[in-house]
Amino acid sequence: MEEVLKKGGDDRLAGKILACLFYEPSTRTRLSFESAMHRLGGDVLSAVGFQFSSLYKGETIEDTITVMNEYADIITMRHPEGGSADKAASVSEVPFINAGDGPRQHPTQALLDLYTIQKEKGSVDGTHITMVGDLLYGRTVHSLSFLLGLYDNMRFTFVSPKELKMSEKVTSFLTEKGINYTEVEDIEDGLDADVLYMTRVQKERFADQSEYERLKLKYVLTADMLKGKDCTIMHPLPRVGEIDTSVDALPNAAYFREAGNGVIVRMALLCMLLDAV
Ligand code: NCD
Repeated sequence: MEEVLKKGGDDRLAGKILACLFYEPSTRTRLSFESAMHRLGGDVLSAVGFQFSSLYKGETIEDTITVMNEYADIITMRHPEGGSADKAASVSEVPFINAGDGPRQHPTQALLDLYTIQKEKGSVDGTHITMVGDLLYGRTVHSLSFLLGLYDNMRFTFVSPKELKMSEKVTSFLTEKGINYTEVEDIEDGLDADVLYMTRVQKERFADQSEYERLKLKYVLTADMLKGKDCTIMHPLPRVGEIDTSVDALPNAAYFREAGNGVIVRMALLCMLLDAV
């Protein structure tokens, strides 16, 4: 797909329609799905914003998806409810892609993160990754941990305040697989990794906004903290202060390249799911 993109795309998905249903804010995920579809000659239908949708009127996710099956060849959806993706997939007869279901999972982000690690580091097996920030509500770190847990000799360090520790679903998965992980509160204890994966505290998941205000900038990564370190810096973006802009000029700052990889990975995924490889 990198080669296809270099040529400016082709038309292997001509005549195919992707429906993008985004009931939660998104910039990168939706636009990179749309860009991927356009690069391959396909068309896109986008429904954005909960209040403009039939779900707002009380329609079930299952009914919305059943109707979308009449309009599109493939569907992607982001929804605030954990488990919404399972509901959608259970009724969809066309391929369905989860673009983020509340605090639970964000599997296509995990695929592009995996691709980024492979590209930046040359391999995935044997990687020591430190994940920092909101490990409880951050869906990207959940999906990425499940995916990296399938590789060999992985090591995980989880850095978070105790209120936002890594979801128990992830830690029990790692334990079952016999994978080594460490949980710490101080970011300095996680800087000797191959990959440093920063995340934002997920404001929208807090019932108590004063609790969010108290936790939001517990970790702020600066270029000074990375002196003498060799880790690749990743972030699913958007960042809201947890990576200082002084980090941007470092050769190991990979977060903007990571976002670019979203188009390539989603092009590949759309082709695979629509049998147009
Ligand atoms: C993430 C998300 O929506 O979960 N963003 C993204 O898809 N690139 C991360 C976030 O919003 O913090």
